[in-house]
Amino acid sequence: MKIKIVSLMLALLLVGTSIFAGGAQDQGQDDSMMEKVSNNVEVLHWWTSGGEAAALNVLKEDLEKKGISWTDSPVAGGGGEGAMTVLKSRAVAGNPPVAVQMLGFDIIDWAELGLLANLNDVAEKENWDAVIPDALKGFSKYNGVWVAAPVNIHSTNWVWANKKMLDDLGISIPETWDEFVMALEKVKASGKIALAHGGQAWQDATVFDSIVISTGGPEFYKKTMIDLDDAALRSDMMVEAFKRMAVLRSFVDDNFSGRDWNLASSMVIEGQAAFQIMGDWAKGEFKNAGQVPGEDFVAFRFPETQGTVTFNADQFVMFNVDESQQAAQKELASSIVAPGFQIAFNLVKGSVPARTDISDAEFDIVGKKGMKDLAEASANGTLFGSMAHGHGAPASVKNALYDVVTSHFNGMYTSEEAAAELADAIKSAQM
Ligand code: GAL
Repeated sequence: MKIKIVSLMLALLLVGTSIFAGGAQDQGQDDSMMEKVSNNVEVLHWWTSGGEAAALNVLKEDLEKKGISWTDSPVAGGGGEGAMTVLKSRAVAGNPPVAVQMLGFDIIDWAELGLLANLNDVAEKENWDAVIPDALKGFSKYNGVWVAAPVNIHSTNWVWANKKMLDDLGISIPETWDEFVMALEKVKASGKIALAHGGQAWQDATVFDSIVISTGGPEFYKKTMIDLDDAALRSDMMVEAFKRMAVLRSFVDDNFSGRDWNLASSMVIEGQAAFQIMGDWAKGEFKNAGQVPGEDFVAFRFPETQGTVTFNADQFVMFNVDESQQAAQKELASSIVAPGFQIAFNLVKGSVPARTDISDAEFDIVGKKGMKDLAEASANGTLFGSMAHGHGAPASVKNALYDVVTSHFNGMYTSEEAAAELADAIKSAQM
């Protein structure tokens, strides 16, 4: 399946390349008359929520100070599926943007097509090899060539809660699955919404990241979501994981279907709902609404996933562009990795820096915990790529999982059927 997608893309690419080559020839005539250097970068991304836009502004403003203007190409849709579809058509037309926000295995897929720029001179000058953690480097570099600039590290196994609601209902932070279910029941009984959730495949899958660890532990997550072990995928433990998904399903409100993740965050912010299970980009929404961690909201690791971190890192992948655009492209890459920027940006985004040499001094309690958890998980062998966010397996497998998890969440499979369907779907996605 993967080979099929890659060869299809290659075929499309050939069409695109010939269009591009034609464009380059025409431009060659222009160039002979006038050598132009572009101080503009077009960036394709999916950061369209309030918190995300605020974080992106930090980057835009940083570049503006350096005399580089920004052409914004936003494609709404958390997790980036929509953005990746737009990118494919742009690449086929031979017109990729200067830089594209991307996750994990998608970067490797694009690098395999030979469409990405070589950032090695910037990376060497700024010693990226020494400061970017190996878990990220595996995606930022392809065959020894830096093709992307990592901007952050997010993690998916978090729960966000409205502090006042917990206090009013006498709920303390749940440490175990059973305590979490009891807390959800208490909220539901009070007439409020227990779990703010948006029924979109990537959000269901984000919850599933946590559920798999919480049900079977870190080894089970690794076996199923990273190693894609068939027996583990169709095991009783996986049936149990789906049963827990069904339990969570009973705590969402009737209007959950299709709801954007940031609207679910707003439900917690505004006191309509108690909890949201979401990656730490949710913190960007709470902060953008002026809320303070520990006072207005609390964040904790999904019960029974403490000690494990499922991460995803946003990287800005640099495409091969015309020579006139390369200086600005390299400045963009350099700005993204710069230590001061990594602090300023990640304070707003909710993520933690993509470098190992940054102090946590300026971060709030959630950021400090995020950095500590990450370092500990990395040292203990419990840091894993998020399946839901493209760091567990390539897109073909991820999408197969999305389909099964979402179908089960919407009642189309029993938990027994879902485990079998998941194993089958993942197997055929790898053929
Ligand atoms: C993730 C991305 C985050 C956040 C989220 C929701 O895939 O890594 O930065 O933007 O989607 O849009």
